[in-house]
Amino acid sequence: MNKFFYILLGMSFLIFACQHDTLVTDEGALSRAIAATATTGSLNEYIIPDGKDLTQIPNQDPKNLLNADKVALGKMLFFEPGIGLVGKNPILKQTYSCSSCHVPQMGFTPGRLQGIADGAIGFGYSGEGRFKSTYYLGDDVDAQGARPLTMHNLAFVTNALWAGSFGSFGTNTGTEAAWRQDTLTEINFLGLEGLEANNMRALQVHRQIMDRAIADSLGYKPLFDKAFPDIPESERYSIKTTAFAIAAYFRTVLTNEAPFQRWLRGESTAMTEQQKRGAMVFFTKGACTNCHRGPALNRMVYQAIGVNNLYQSGFQVFRTGPTDKRNFGRGGFTGRAEDMHKFKVPQLYNLKNIGFYFHGASKRTLEEVVEYFDRAVPENKEVPASQISPFFKPLNLTQREIKDLTEFLKNGLYDPNIDRYVPKSVMSGKCFPNNDPLSKSDMGCQ
Ligand code: HEC
Ligand code: HEC
Repeated sequence: MNKFFYILLGMSFLIFACQHDTLVTDEGALSRAIAATATTGSLNEYIIPDGKDLTQIPNQDPKNLLNADKVALGKMLFFEPGIGLVGKNPILKQTYSCSSCHVPQMGFTPGRLQGIADGAIGFGYSGEGRFKSTYYLGDDVDAQGARPLTMHNLAFVTNALWAGSFGSFGTNTGTEAAWRQDTLTEINFLGLEGLEANNMRALQVHRQIMDRAIADSLGYKPLFDKAFPDIPESERYSIKTTAFAIAAYFRTVLTNEAPFQRWLRGESTAMTEQQKRGAMVFFTKGACTNCHRGPALNRMVYQAIGVNNLYQSGFQVFRTGPTDKRNFGRGGFTGRAEDMHKFKVPQLYNLKNIGFYFHGASKRTLEEVVEYFDRAVPENKEVPASQISPFFKPLNLTQREIKDLTEFLKNGLYDPNIDRYVPKSVMSGKCFPNNDPLSKSDMGCQ
């Protein structure tokens, strides 16, 4: 009996020891693997700055240097339905906002495959219950032919949109000929950074306005006065200053409380063992850093990985189809053959549960995304093989590596405290993201 007990004890110890051996990540090895992918050779290259010190935030527009008052103003205007005054039908006036398509709790995506602002009603639990209003006909709604991008870590985005169309510098240097193609991209001639240019156009495209009377009636005038004292009063309450304030806010929305970020800063227990193993896959065998690098794990380069477009989703979508320029990514903007079907390498934080991945929302879970990269077989037959990135190749991950990598993306890269970037209320006192009666009832906001 005794002997049997000791044999059992010995066996369980052996099993435990073996598991221990294979399950625990060598922290030093992980640090070295990460550092090896950094251009500076230091793992600090992956640290997101502490947003509290505004001077440390990179890529600021010299025409719109950050100050705390601009950030506070932008933090409200982004969520403010009060400026939604120029919708197609007066019945939905002041019911939508930027955040109708960029819901903070959903990684600033809409929680459905396509975002709809003006022309839709309802919210559901997380944006999924938003539908076209019967007062609007097909193309009258405000929607675009791509899954909305996330709004955190935009300090690392110098050219906005999947195609990088907005912004006068960075990857757009040398693309001046393409800026003349429409009234939207002509804004690049103003010499602005991507976020400032994007936001000026976004306010128009999304049917929002600002002037002195509106600022006054909604209660924003003193906030503009504080944020933009250098701008003459005649120009202080405008689309431009609204866009600038929102850009300032964006640059401070940083996911620096994610477990991986805390781990990078020296808190070795911030990530679970599984997340550490997943990180190891990300930085070594998965070779994800061939494209996703730096603090936000994004990169201002355009790559084709052959995913489907929104119109190919099989679901009803608005204002897009086979000829939509957005399907061609960077090529749709530059017109260059070599850029066709290439999309910006997006950031990877707070993607947990957003439910729709890639520009065409063709994947529903992060595990499916990881499996897609593992197999490396382009799903979109219309993308010529010659365009596909040479870095998109089979990884031969084991089932466990797939699970570990998925867990790293899901929770290792998830900042659970995103509420700090959401205002308690907006100056108009209206409900946000949406302010139509159905949304209000869905959201429990009166
Ligand atoms: C109708 C839905 C909708 C509304 C409303 C909306 N957006 Fe977007 N947003 C999108 C979509 C879709 C994209 C990606 C489009 C593309 O790349 O082709 C996007 C992309 C962006 C980007 C680019 C981010 C990046 O990483 O390049 C920024 C910045 C942005 N939106 C800001 C705003 C602001 C500011 C407002 C309000 C003025 C706004 N959005 C309102 C749908 C919306
Ligand atoms: C060839 C460059 C490349 C490599 C290598 C690469 N990615 Fe990506 N990744 C992209 C591009 C480009 C997109 C956007 C594609 C699109 O939507 O058209 C993307 C999108 C994603 C998305 C979806 C983001 C969103 O907002 O929907 C995730 C998640 C992701 N990548 C994770 C990974 C992981 C994990 C690895 C390593 C296994 C990896 N990527 C390797 C280029 C790459």
